[in-house]
Amino acid sequence: MERTLVIIKPDGVARHLVGEIINRYERKDFKLLAAKLIAADALLLENHYAEHKGRAYFQELIDYMSEGPIMVMAWAGASVVEIIRLMNGDKHPSKASPGTIRGDYAHDLTKNIVHASDSPETAEREIAIWFPELA
Ligand code: CDP
Ligand code: MG
Repeated sequence: MERTLVIIKPDGVARHLVGEIINRYERKDFKLLAAKLIAADALLLENHYAEHKGRAYFQELIDYMSEGPIMVMAWAGASVVEIIRLMNGDKHPSKASPGTIRGDYAHDLTKNIVHASDSPETAEREIAIWFPELA
């Protein structure tokens, strides 16, 4: 069964959207494999976002992800990677459709509530970072 890695970012946790977001994925009939509310370790965050190293927004992104607790989760289901990305919505605020998590709750290019893996290969890499026991 395909798996994906989701992070409810500090703004999503601070705005009490954890239950709302889990509810959406559960209503879609995806299976929650693992979840933990943690203060993100800086080294794990930099590894998680390694492909963004060198970008102008990289430090801002790491600082933002360190602002407060994050909810890290692994989810499973058919085509879960692509479908959860659709449910989360586009990172560009003007492209995030109403009805998606970002479309409903965010209007900022950095502070956008939620992360999800962008391919099954990325998902396995990210799951190994945050849940080595699932790798
Ligand atoms: O999160 P997603 O996969 O949709 O987008 P990304 O291009 O992989 O970027 C990762 C995260 O970096 C975004 O979700 C934003 O929080 C942040 N970002 C940013 O602050 N400014 C940008 N120009 C691009 C991304
Ligand atoms: Mg991405």
